[in-house]
Amino acid sequence: MAMKRERKERAPILEPGFWLDDDLRVIQHLGGSRKVDVYSCSSKRLDMLVSCKVLRPEYCIDFSALDDIRIEGELLLRLHHPNVVEGYGMELEEYPRIIMEHLQGVTVESAFLSGNFGAFDYLDAVDVALDVARGLTHVHQQGLLHLDVKPANVMYHEGHATLFDFSVAEEFSAGDTLRDDAGTTEYMAPEQTAREEVGYYTDVFGLGVLFYRLLSGGAYPYPVMEVTKDTDDVGNSGGTKSRLDYGSLPVNPSVHNPNAPEELGEIALRAVQVDKSLRFATPEEFSAALEKALKAVGGWSPGP
Ligand SMILES: Nc1ncnc2c1ncn2[C@@H]1O[C@H](COP(=O)(O)OP(=O)(O)OP(=O)(O)O)[C@@H](O)[C@H]1O
Ligand SMILES: [Mg+2]
Repeated sequence: MAMKRERKERAPILEPGFWLDDDLRVIQHLGGSRKVDVYSCSSKRLDMLVSCKVLRPEYCIDFSALDDIRIEGELLLRLHHPNVVEGYGMELEEYPRIIMEHLQGVTVESAFLSGNFGAFDYLDAVDVALDVARGLTHVHQQGLLHLDVKPANVMYHEGHATLFDFSVAEEFSAGDTLRDDAGTTEYMAPEQTAREEVGYYTDVFGLGVLFYRLLSGGAYPYPVMEVTKDTDDVGNSGGTKSRLDYGSLPVNPSVHNPNAPEELGEIALRAVQVDKSLRFATPEEFSAALEKALKAVGGWSPGP
């Protein structure tokens, strides 16, 4: 019989003032998805505001959900970089949670892409992309892939961008395929969608879509299409799922936004190549090409 996803009764969001333990008191609900909620909390012990990603109570008896939060916490605690959210700790007993740095600001999605496009400057787009590339390089150096690079997973505050949300990140060695096909359709490289061999170039694709959207003013390089899922072992039809139409040819972001220099658009296009051998192999390669292109359009000033 086909496996059905069980619908669980949603437990209420924790109220401000609620103590998760004798250290952490909920200040505000910040967001969340099916299995987790993120709260800002004040930590008595650290004497500061932190963010906690908390497994919803209805999933606390679900071993795979507990495993997911444990893996996310363990991976995050290996990372220490100014462009990556800092993990402080993890607790798996009551209210299983990851405790991390509370990032100020708003996501890049809300800062630049959700109706606030009037303030756009391509130099902002470049700054964000370079920050994300720096963070990603660190992630890769620790032997991980992020696998969900997108504007909603990057926080922006006073010109500084920080990568967060390691919920689908994986430990990685050359030749690996993925644990599952989690990720966000619009940002997913073909090899991630197809669960073929992945590499640093897989995160470059997500970074490329992010940069493409910032340059174009929100447009995506590839349209989403519905495809029929494979029939399972016992003959149940798999229904449909969405994936990118990798067969369509993306236009330069400057077609959507004439303020975006074509030379920078070329960098975004190379980062979202379907053929991974034509893509930048690493975020560092992406950054080097971007800095060069920026210099060529006269927008680069050497640092101090
Ligand atoms: N460290 C943090 N500091 C401040 N806000 C945060 C932090 N981590 C998460 N958030 C907020 O909580 C929201 C959800 O976090 P996150 O993306 O990690 O969770 P998620 O369950 O994987 O969500 P989604 O499936 O929507 O990506 C974010 O959009 C952000 O607004
Ligand atoms: Mg997220």
